[in-house]
Amino acid sequence: MIPAADAARIAALRAELEGHNRAYYVLDAPTVPDAEFDRLFRELQALEARYPESVTSDSPTQRVGGAPVSELASVRHKVPMLSIRTETDTTAAGAAHFDTRVRNALGWGPEAPAIEYVGELKFDGLAISLRYERGTLVRAATRGDGETGEDVTHNVRTIRAIPLRLHGETPYLLEVRGEIFMRRPDFEALNTLQRERGEKTFVNPRNAAAGAVRQLDPTITSRRPLTFFAYGLGETGDWALPATHGEVLDALADLGFPVCEHRQVVQGPQGLAAFHDQIAAMRDQLPYDIDGVVYKVNRLDLQGQLGFVTREPRWAVAHKFPAQEEITRLIDIDVQVGRTGALTPVARLEPVFVGGVTVTNATLHNQDEIDRKDLRVGDWVIVRRAGDVIPEVVQPVLDRRVGDPPRFDLLARFPHCPVCGSHVVRLPDEAVARCTGGLFCPAQRKQALLHFAGRRAMDIEGLGEKLVDQLVDGAIVKTPVDLYRLGVLALANLDRMAEKSASNLLAAIEGSRKTTLARFIFALGIRNVGEATAKDLARHFGNLDGLMSADETALQAVPDVGPVVAASIAQFFAEPHNVEVVEQLRAAGVTWPEEAARSTDGVLAGKTFVLTGTLPSLSRDEAKGLIEDVGAKVSGSVSKKTDFVVAGSDAGSKLEKARQLGVTVIDEAQLRVLLAEAGTSGSPVQDLFGENA
Ligand code: IVH
Repeated sequence: MIPAADAARIAALRAELEGHNRAYYVLDAPTVPDAEFDRLFRELQALEARYPESVTSDSPTQRVGGAPVSELASVRHKVPMLSIRTETDTTAAGAAHFDTRVRNALGWGPEAPAIEYVGELKFDGLAISLRYERGTLVRAATRGDGETGEDVTHNVRTIRAIPLRLHGETPYLLEVRGEIFMRRPDFEALNTLQRERGEKTFVNPRNAAAGAVRQLDPTITSRRPLTFFAYGLGETGDWALPATHGEVLDALADLGFPVCEHRQVVQGPQGLAAFHDQIAAMRDQLPYDIDGVVYKVNRLDLQGQLGFVTREPRWAVAHKFPAQEEITRLIDIDVQVGRTGALTPVARLEPVFVGGVTVTNATLHNQDEIDRKDLRVGDWVIVRRAGDVIPEVVQPVLDRRVGDPPRFDLLARFPHCPVCGSHVVRLPDEAVARCTGGLFCPAQRKQALLHFAGRRAMDIEGLGEKLVDQLVDGAIVKTPVDLYRLGVLALANLDRMAEKSASNLLAAIEGSRKTTLARFIFALGIRNVGEATAKDLARHFGNLDGLMSADETALQAVPDVGPVVAASIAQFFAEPHNVEVVEQLRAAGVTWPEEAARSTDGVLAGKTFVLTGTLPSLSRDEAKGLIEDVGAKVSGSVSKKTDFVVAGSDAGSKLEKARQLGVTVIDEAQLRVLLAEAGTSGSPVQDLFGENA
């Protein structure tokens, strides 16, 4: 015997959980956070574990954990599951054709009133018949051939949108029909998960949903994010039918079924066409795929009169939208060179009309994406274009592949940039392949010039985006060298280039000829070489020739230069086109003072200093500059890694911290000694400051 209090609690928990489910799936208005739902769920599970005799098949706990079946049993549909005739004319005429057929079949002349219809969405999933006896779900069956389907009750129970118990007053027998489907965001998330696990991805939400429902093991189904909309009836037993289909849908919602909110009672063919337009306009915003709308004659008595021909009712039609997915041929894979030199593979497709436009190209992103989808030139492929989203090659149709065509290898196919002929490389950690002709490549011209002229690079004031556009588009400037050959005449002809600003710009260009090695290196726009790295390189090599001839090993000797940066630099200078531009810049009079090369194997190289308090004669910036000149770094905070703390007057917590950690503390005078020693290189710093140095 179950104590009355516990029995009552079990019943209350079940009712509450079903209520929350209904709020979530039917009313689309969640009432409690997931965590609260889970808490109630676990409480019910615990009570049912204590009183196993209390468990009923419609308890919310019974959705998961059902045993696998060895095969799907056959189920005969007493009321056959019909299909719908499709109207392929996607214009408003499609709606008029249907209305005419209905009126003719009913024998309604032009004087008879407009026919009332219900407009619904045509969901792209799997049709299901749900049988409820005394309000409890007893069986779920697929459509099959319409007469006989498969028993998938064990799987359907796991779908939380489908009630296990009907809400309110329940008929003795009721079969409800509708569509099981997967929402697009859930589908994308599922595919991401499949990919991460190295498992096969699904072509589209419909296939994913259909596969999930036809599993033998319900635990697999329970892990697939399925949902459901009700749209009709099968056997109805003692249920008192309303007079119209619209009212049937309302009644189904009252019984606890999710019924799509985008349904509408409309009058005549104009009403249908307006519904079609309205849904077409919102199609891309819907979180699930639809391939059209469905029109149904609203009055059930008229539906009865109309009857059906070969499994298709005369009272319903599906009015399609243009397809969002089509199959076409992948003729070739080309590349596009972007502003940063990235080579993006592009699919050249046999023209195909999809999503309302003719598609001939689609980006394939990068080599990994091509490998992941296993696309081969010559394949038949599925192309998808939804709304304004750019067209996508979803996957190859493997059944149609003949033999084993070669895999696409971007670097083998495009060893040289198709735009400028420079070498193409792919760095170890990068997904994209790139053209190395940064200074020379027309595709990268604008970007390269803007970067070159930037404030922290050559600092050419007035050379902004609009001007660069005009200079490049007018073929006046091709590489940065051309800037130093510009005359007032060439500039004066440009839009909005008054004479005064032309001479200002020329003065700025002129002024930029005298620069620093660090700025010049940064201005070259070498991939992965930012301002700080450019400074390190200038300091280390002291002159440009040293840098240009350094191999990757020599480059990695520079502080903070690892293998990736070293490879970028080496590749940049390995490209003759770039070297040519650099030489031309020097010939055009771009100069900088030679930096005294600072040995990075000097005694202070790589050491870390922290400055605190006010030094007697050096400003903070001066001290920092001197310390950096010997290849050491200045950090903002003291740690175990700090080598020296330079303390002045009013030194505060940093000094305190240095003492705690046992870091060597020095004053300005000692710093000067240290720097002088380091300048002559190799002197025994340890002698001055003991073990800590
Ligand atoms: S009613 C009247 N309503 O379309 C015939 N079907 O070809 C019974 N479908 O297998 C179906 N949305 O899976 C109906 N709002 C909707 C529908 C719909 C999608 C599917 C259903 C059926 C197929 C008919």
